[in-house]
Amino acid sequence: MGAMAVAQIDFQVVEKLKDGREVILRPLRDGDRKTLTTVWSHLSPLSIYHRFFSPKKALSESDLSYLSHVDFKQHVALTVCARQEDGTEEPVAIGRYIVLDDEPEKAEIAFTVDDPYQGLGIGTILMRHLAVIGKAAGLKAFKAYVLTENHRMLRVFARSGLSMTKTMADGSTCEVELSLDY
Ligand SMILES: CC(C)(COP(=O)(O)OP(=O)(O)OC[C@H]1O[C@@H](n2cnc3c(N)ncnc32)[C@H](O)[C@@H]1OP(=O)(O)O)[C@@H](O)C(=O)NCCC(=O)NCCS
Repeated sequence: MGAMAVAQIDFQVVEKLKDGREVILRPLRDGDRKTLTTVWSHLSPLSIYHRFFSPKKALSESDLSYLSHVDFKQHVALTVCARQEDGTEEPVAIGRYIVLDDEPEKAEIAFTVDDPYQGLGIGTILMRHLAVIGKAAGLKAFKAYVLTENHRMLRVFARSGLSMTKTMADGSTCEVELSLDY
């Protein structure tokens, strides 16, 4: 059995960061390219490399189309918004999972947190919520491909409380599997 659709209507959660600020988690709306480009615009070259494994100047049309096409079944994405000094809210992070075609009980997970907001707990918060959503949808595991130098991402996975296996995919990348069978 593959993943089931998850309820997305009205999902809105307020969480506190390590520095005491509050952020709001919401589902990414299908076709919301603006959130993707806003988060992208505050990423350092190193963060882009850690996320996409190669230097990249901009998100291509096909990246935007693929990454914004969420159906809350095969592709679930959450956005994290932070309140700015002028009172407006700005998206600062996205976490997603995409169910694997060849292993429909597993999904690939990926995160992007804007550089000024890294290290404040957002990756950990996204991981926690995606795990609850993925499990409720009937998934058995998350997979992720991570550069071995990406200690932050590996730390988030190791501290998730999910049972984790890590194997080398090639010289610089490892494949992480996190069990949702708890
Ligand atoms: C990787 C990423 C998603 C993590 O999100 P985050 O919000 O920064 O993570 P958190 O703040 O929840 O947790 C980071 C953990 O790493 C630790 N950490 C920070 N810098 C570290 C470093 N240089 N080495 C080891 N651990 C480090 C933090 O102390 C924290 O652990 P703790 O909670 O035990 O203190 C985020 O940094 C990011 O978007 N990076 C760029 C894109 C990317 O790498 N995506 C992942 C592709 S799968």
